Amino acid sequence: MPQRVRITDVSPRDGLQNEPGIVQTADKAELVMSLARSGVDEIEASSFVSPKWVPQLGDAPLLFDLLGQEETLHSADAPMISALVPNEKGVQGAIDANEAAGWRLISKVSVFTAASETFCKKNTNATIDETLERFIPVLQLAGAGAMRVRAYLSCAIACPFEGPIAPAKAAEVASKLVALGVDELDVADTIGVATPEQITQMLDAVLEAVGEHYLEHLTLHLHDTHGRAADCVRAALDRGVRSFDSAVAGLGGCPFASTADKRAPGNIDTGLLVRTIRDAGYLPGLATDIDDDALAKATSLASAMTADKHGRPAGKHAGGRQA
Ligand code: HMG
Ligand code: MG
Repeated sequence: MPQRVRITDVSPRDGLQNEPGIVQTADKAELVMSLARSGVDEIEASSFVSPKWVPQLGDAPLLFDLLGQEETLHSADAPMISALVPNEKGVQGAIDANEAAGWRLISKVSVFTAASETFCKKNTNATIDETLERFIPVLQLAGAGAMRVRAYLSCAIACPFEGPIAPAKAAEVASKLVALGVDELDVADTIGVATPEQITQMLDAVLEAVGEHYLEHLTLHLHDTHGRAADCVRAALDRGVRSFDSAVAGLGGCPFASTADKRAPGNIDTGLLVRTIRDAGYLPGLATDIDDDALAKATSLASAMTADKHGRPAGKHAGGRQA
């Protein structure tokens, strides 16, 4: 029996945070519900971050109000719903959303730091160590609210400002995150420049630092600038990784990874991830198979809601500040 591979679609969060326009809350809810029908294991639905920093996701409380009313998200085979949080205020937002829903709608919060000081400062207005300090109350509150904590490690391969990042640096910050007691690590190629060899080297260094047993708690988050993300997935599968992030329509990018002449690139497209997993001899989706028709519908929906006024397609295919 082929092994199963976990898929987290981050398009409502990583995707919509990087769009020039603000998508209506009801449309975001429709995208989440459409993704839920596709069979992905987890949907990162939004962020409780400062709306001054990311206005595109400033409606997170309203979105979770809508999602809390969706009976199907409450069922046993529903995907896990998660939210990105930078600090105590963010996790409190997730707790409030669960209280308002009357059930544990958000069962995981994702904190984020980086292996690059420059990127970390631009993304969170804090040093790497300061972000780690901020995670201590997040972990406490998340635990009290019965929510898991994922920790993103951005720029694990390269930084848009500092250039290549040594695998040893990614490993050092990964160790600190694990020592804090996060439940899982999500290592990210934020600007999508990795080669498969670099992915393997980075994973080797991180796993040597945190222990090989941590593989089962490790996810790879790939952006796809040069069309190499699928090759990187294959390398990571060979290295034992069984959990990946992606975004329908290849949406995504961290606004604070954009530089004057380059827009931060989109995530690996979920459809491409699914095909790559199948071609490598694994089954996409942890519990159920991915429904290709439902995934295609979610992809069309995401494309339609992010296509700009000039009719150009969205996400990584968009023109302009493209990486
Ligand atoms: P700051 O300005 O240093 O924070 O920002 P502050 O504590 O001084 O607060 C400033 C204002 O924000 C205050 O409001 C706070 O209440 C409010 P004011 O008094 O001015 O009205 N505030 C908040 N509001 C809502 N929710 C919160 C929150 N916290 C403070 N949680 C801060 C520090 C971390 C808040 C800011 O830098 C921030 O929000 N950054 C988020 C950046 C972000 O979302 N980046 C994209 C996600 S990361 C990513 O995409 C990478 C990833 O995909 C992996 C990869 O690809 O690498 C995950
Ligand atoms: Mg990202």
